[in-house]
Amino acid sequence: MASALQNSLKRTTASLLVTQSRLVSATAATTTRALSTTAPTRQATTSTSPPFASSDNHNSTSSTDSSSSTDSAPVPPLKLSKEQRELLEEMIRVDQAGELGANWIYRGQYAVLGSDKKVGPLLQHMWDQEKHHLKVFDGIVSQYRVRPTALRPIWEMAGFALGAGTALLGKEAAMACTEAVETVIGGHYNDQLRELLKIDHPDIAELRKVVKQFRDDELEHLETALEHDAQKAPQHELLSNAIKQGCKAAIWISSKV
Ligand SMILES: [Fe+2]
Ligand SMILES: [Fe+2]
Repeated sequence: MASALQNSLKRTTASLLVTQSRLVSATAATTTRALSTTAPTRQATTSTSPPFASSDNHNSTSSTDSSSSTDSAPVPPLKLSKEQRELLEEMIRVDQAGELGANWIYRGQYAVLGSDKKVGPLLQHMWDQEKHHLKVFDGIVSQYRVRPTALRPIWEMAGFALGAGTALLGKEAAMACTEAVETVIGGHYNDQLRELLKIDHPDIAELRKVVKQFRDDELEHLETALEHDAQKAPQHELLSNAIKQGCKAAIWISSKV
């Protein structure tokens, strides 16, 4: 009975997170429309090639490898205040680090469970989306000359260890890991959307689109994990809380270092 009540509470919390996301999206859409009527007219080259748009010709694994894009495309002038620029740099750095960590979590899970007929394709699908997320943030880091995290090897090792470690505990524990990580990351992207709404700048509208799309992808991963027995993992509560606290610590550290 208590367990059924707990599961019900968890599902309600997940639903609330999704509802909250939709509310943030609705607000973002309204503000974007408002900005589009007041923002200065952009040059044709900028409007046809948004600075924050997904760029598939960037290298997928290294921010430094994407430097060729800066050779061919001029860096758009970001007339932001010093505080806004610092805030954006922190956001972009932590997002790239987070997507890097996510890639290595799925790499670790896939190394253990990739051959499983049921879970393998799910992991591959989510990993593919994380590869795309990382590629886009590698491009943004390079284009805006944001200092990437100095802890790249640590996030790679920690991500792989977390992914492989939970997968070795079983499919449910692997899904519990995804549930915990995506709950924190979905909330993190929602917090960023709220901050980005406060900055009135045409380029920020593009970054907002990227963050919104990725937030939606992460919440889709969260729903997938819940649908595939994440909450049946052994010691679910303990495992989930430990992973969530680790993710929050990683977000704070990678925004600074
Ligand atoms: Fe992601
Ligand atoms: Fe994800």
